Amino acid sequence: MPDTPKLILPDIPNLRNIDTYVANGGYGEALRKAYSMAPAAVIDEVKKSGLRGRGGAAFPTGLKWSFMPKGKEKKKYFLINGDESEPGSFKDRQIFEFNPHQMIEGILIGCYAMQIDHAYIYIRGEYAHWVKMVEKAVADAYAKGFIGKRMSEHFKPGGDGVAYTAEITVHKGAGAYIVGEETAMMDSLEGKRGYPRYKPPFPANAGLWGMPTTINNIETMTNVPAIMKMGGEAYSKIGDPKQPGTILYGVSGHVNKPGVYELPTGTPLLDIIYKHAGGVPNGKKIKMVIPGGSSMPPLRGDKLEGVLMDAEHLKEVGSAIGTAGIMVMDEDTDLIHVLTRIAKFYQHESCGQCTPCREGTGWLLKLLRRFDAGEAMAGDVDLLYDVAKNIEGRTICALGEAAAWPVYFTIERFRDEFEKRIKPGLKLKSPERVHSLRKGGLEPVQVHVPVVERT
Ligand SMILES: Cc1cc2nc3c(=O)[nH]c(=O)nc-3n(C[C@H](O)[C@H](O)[C@H](O)COP(=O)(O)O)c2cc1C
Ligand code: SF4
Repeated sequence: MPDTPKLILPDIPNLRNIDTYVANGGYGEALRKAYSMAPAAVIDEVKKSGLRGRGGAAFPTGLKWSFMPKGKEKKKYFLINGDESEPGSFKDRQIFEFNPHQMIEGILIGCYAMQIDHAYIYIRGEYAHWVKMVEKAVADAYAKGFIGKRMSEHFKPGGDGVAYTAEITVHKGAGAYIVGEETAMMDSLEGKRGYPRYKPPFPANAGLWGMPTTINNIETMTNVPAIMKMGGEAYSKIGDPKQPGTILYGVSGHVNKPGVYELPTGTPLLDIIYKHAGGVPNGKKIKMVIPGGSSMPPLRGDKLEGVLMDAEHLKEVGSAIGTAGIMVMDEDTDLIHVLTRIAKFYQHESCGQCTPCREGTGWLLKLLRRFDAGEAMAGDVDLLYDVAKNIEGRTICALGEAAAWPVYFTIERFRDEFEKRIKPGLKLKSPERVHSLRKGGLEPVQVHVPVVERT
């Protein structure tokens, strides 16, 4: 296996200790280089690297930074997304635990590039343990003067940069998936209920407290010091040219060695599963893989040959990189039960603002429970497909798609699994007959009722 660069999680023991981090070049070369450049030149360097966001949408980071208004006249904010609530995603917490200072250094470089003087790191409430680690890392960096008022003791601005200081606040969420959506996170941070906002206006125009805001994922930020050190061009040559760099692949499910693997983008999916994650227990075949967290379109196990794990190649095979959380399911997996559990999650996490998502996620769950219990009727496969299709594209935020995609793509790719669960002869009774039954009824009829919940 060729050596792969470890840009995000290097094999350095105790790197979360600030002294170890500094001894290994942290809060040094990368920050100094950034501060010796004009802010716009730092943005250009990130553009040159080709870095794309690791939070799900793979949006180009340098381009996003360039949307922010220039200068320091207006208050601006930087929001770092550590909500990581997507089932199958557990990579940001590795950064919190093993390399939090590189993330902080990346945030400081981003602040300088966009001339922002306040950043918030928003971490999901369930990560109480990791929140403490990040709080300690931030406190240690403050104590050494790498963050806050004493920053200029370490770093002298260059180019057209000004003497620069930035503050970082760590915020612990209350534990809701939806606040991972960028605008819901802004509402939540403002002390409101975490509801996604309509766009436009986009955050770069009106974000936190109505001021220009950039939001980036934890892993995205952790890449930035590596880019500054090696230069954008060198970084752009790692991995797939259309989404360069290394990426933290979180592998879970039916593999012998589940875990987080840092590998170049574009690594073959089967290499990740078999060479790195140790293959499938008991030599079983793979039935299905969801390659980017539970909301991404699933792939058939017999169609994985040649699949490369990066944004563009996954698009070509009808899926998406998402959070690079790879969920592997072996040949014995009950896909309907898996989907039912996933649907329950999205139904529970829908914020309820838009009807297609609020009602549609509930309908998906009800229908899937029918299949799960072997109580589905002829026509239910099409009905389920139709409900999922009618959620897509009709909602304020992408939670609608997150709920719909796994369902309708699984129908497209595994229709037989659904058809197997149809109970022959089972029909919905007309309302009149159900009504007459309730009143004492004329004849025994089998009324189709939603099945009991299974988790
Ligand atoms: C329902 C929903 C949940 C999301 N959850 C997260 C999350 O937990 N972490 C994250 O970084 N991005 C999440 N996103 C994506 C963010 O809205 C945003 O695109 C991302 O933080 C931008 O960072 P990036 O450009 O660095 O990827 C979510 C999006 C949606 C629609
Ligand atoms: S799509 Fe769902 S989660 Fe998103 S705003 Fe609408 S109801 Fe809320």
